[in-house]
Amino acid sequence: MTDFDQVVNRYGTYSTQWDYVQDRFGEEALLPFSISDMDFAIPAGTKDVLASAVARGVFGYTRWNHPDFKGAISRWFDHEFNCEVDEDWIVFSPSVIYSLSILIQLLGKGRNKVVTFTPCYDAFFSTVRENAGELFSASLKKNDGHFEIDFADLENLFKTEKPEIFLLCNPHNPTGRAFMLAELTRLIELCNQYQVAIISDEIHMDIRRPGIFHHPILALYHEIEVPVVLLSSASKTFNTPGLGCSYGLIPAEALREEFLTILKARDGLSSAPYLGMIALQDCYNNEKSWLAELNRYVDQNFQYVLAALENHPHIDCYLPEATYLAWLEVKDLPVEMDQLQDILVHEEKVAIMRGDTYGIEGRNYLRLNLGAPQSKIRTGVAALLRALEKSSVRSSQSIET
Ligand SMILES: Cc1ncc(COP(=O)(O)O)c(C=O)c1O
Repeated sequence: MTDFDQVVNRYGTYSTQWDYVQDRFGEEALLPFSISDMDFAIPAGTKDVLASAVARGVFGYTRWNHPDFKGAISRWFDHEFNCEVDEDWIVFSPSVIYSLSILIQLLGKGRNKVVTFTPCYDAFFSTVRENAGELFSASLKKNDGHFEIDFADLENLFKTEKPEIFLLCNPHNPTGRAFMLAELTRLIELCNQYQVAIISDEIHMDIRRPGIFHHPILALYHEIEVPVVLLSSASKTFNTPGLGCSYGLIPAEALREEFLTILKARDGLSSAPYLGMIALQDCYNNEKSWLAELNRYVDQNFQYVLAALENHPHIDCYLPEATYLAWLEVKDLPVEMDQLQDILVHEEKVAIMRGDTYGIEGRNYLRLNLGAPQSKIRTGVAALLRALEKSSVRSSQSIET
């Protein structure tokens, strides 16, 4: 059994979330609930694998194109999602967003018009922009605590903007939707009809609530008549983003070869990071039960947060189907969101992501990272509740004076 309650000190690890919190929030030493990595140590078995590699001390150039790397990935898709992945489809990449960047260039035909569901992961905005592209929003519509696709709106965008690419994020950051088969089928029909290639970022695929299934886009491969690529990584699931190892599944041989030419010949990334690669192999081969425990722990964190915020006059909180990210709607607050953030950061000393980081639809939201021991979650929720209370009190005082 893993003790997820155990607090691991992350200070002094050059942690973006902890050591560099000031970069995003303007103040040092805040308790962070921000970017999506977790505060948990990796599985003990994987730590041992990495420790023996470090003890051996050999870190030469490293190949990824072998059955150990590719077999671990294809077996994971088979037993976790009942999805057949041909090992030939698999390519290494240092990060999901690096792959996305290359694929926008390869699939964008120079116009690089990309549609995605918004709100969306903030790197989508910058990656599309920096590839001379344009990102179009298909807003997810909140209906009774559930975000839904507006297919009429999506079709209209496809008709009017004629995009080259639909960028799917499934499960979806920040709303936590795990899209159902019927939704994916309709999405594929539209992509087929309007000849829009699909890039599916599935990095959040393994963290889900009980009973929720993840449907990889390639489980529907035979229905797809346009180029399709699935991007993922073991890094979100097993908390290893600092090890720099992700992968893409690219069924079309010509596209895959173009990708590899850019990766290796243009960008000089022939060699995989050895520790990242063996960590992925060990996690996918041996750490299924650690993941089950993690999911149970994250579920408890959600239950705690839901109970603490239930019936709050200014927070609308729902249980997302996937991810360890709570997407909290702040409603009827008598002060601006900027003032709430000021109180959170400067008085309560917590760093909780502003919802507008993920686009205009997120302006009245906060994204709270629950991938952490419950003691930290309790402290963060208490700080949030106090900040909300202070906002209300101050606004009524300012009305009186
Ligand atoms: C949807 C999504 N895609 C990609 C990433 C980043 O992946 P990588 O570090 O492999 O680029 C994240 C990290 O938060 C994410 O939420």
